[in-house]
Amino acid sequence: MQEYSPENALLAGRTILVTGAGDGIGRAVSLALALNGATVILLGRTLSKLEAVYDQIEAAGGVQPAIYPLNLEGATEHDYLEMAEKLEVEFGSLEGLLHNAAQLQLLSRIDDYDMQTWFQVMQSNLHGPFLLTQACLPLLRRAEDASLLFTSDHLGRKAKAYWGAYAVSKFGIEGLMQVMAEELSNSNIRVNSFAPGPTRTKLRAIAYPGEDPGKLKSPEQLTPYYLWLLGPGSLGTTGMALDETSDVFGHLRSSREDGSAFRTDAD
Ligand SMILES: NC(=O)c1ccc[n+]([C@@H]2O[C@H](COP(=O)([O-])OP(=O)(O)OC[C@H]3O[C@@H](n4cnc5c(N)ncnc54)[C@H](OP(=O)(O)O)[C@@H]3O)[C@@H](O)[C@H]2O)c1
Repeated sequence: MQEYSPENALLAGRTILVTGAGDGIGRAVSLALALNGATVILLGRTLSKLEAVYDQIEAAGGVQPAIYPLNLEGATEHDYLEMAEKLEVEFGSLEGLLHNAAQLQLLSRIDDYDMQTWFQVMQSNLHGPFLLTQACLPLLRRAEDASLLFTSDHLGRKAKAYWGAYAVSKFGIEGLMQVMAEELSNSNIRVNSFAPGPTRTKLRAIAYPGEDPGKLKSPEQLTPYYLWLLGPGSLGTTGMALDETSDVFGHLRSSREDGSAFRTDAD
């Protein structure tokens, strides 16, 4: 069994930007990435939450991260370009971009769907990721290999009533992933989407307030999938709409039965 050590860190030398890094899945994945050798850029809208993740990474002995506060809802093209310029000066290239931030706001039938809420959700969940990706493409191109990963949802592959702008934004994310995977098929950048399935987070609690959260998997249980998708193991995998049951994770599951070099929490 191969134990973790800084020398065999899976993601050593990789700089990875994570949106929505302050809570839920983004928080757990950011910690796991840093513990596996990546320099993580923690992007989110609540500075205090990003600072708490920063402290958690430092306390656990992960690679020192960076913080970039940004609200995808209000950010303009200029904000994204300014961010990319700063990242270029500081890091030179990006080996990974994880689009994880999203909001649900509410469940409502389309008849009654509030227009302001519709625009807010589409801005955070779809237009923001488009603008951020566009601004970061030169940085991703500068990497030896790079992983562009969109967080999707099964509702963005088969919708259900009342999921409104959230479901529609995730269909858009799947479309953006497919368009970009084709456009970048002969490049150093692989492009995929991953649908996490029911996970114990704030977003899930908004959708299912009566559910017992203890029956859901924790965000930490998802981290091996993200480590593989953002790491060198996924080289050659592109244009795929994935979830935990996807064939590409078969060897990941069997290798974890034997033990692996991953660290998925602070222990
Ligand atoms: N949990 C599930 O069961 C589930 C299932 C399928 C898909 N997903 C997907 O998984 C991803 C992560 O969701 P989660 O469950 O971890 O949700 P979460 O706990 O609510 O975390 C979402 C994160 O995104 C941030 N965020 C939201 N809007 C933002 C904006 N406009 N600008 C910057 N940051 C913003 C939030 O910031 P604040 O902390 O400041 O609010 C939060 O840190 C999402 O893409 C979601 O669609 C989740």
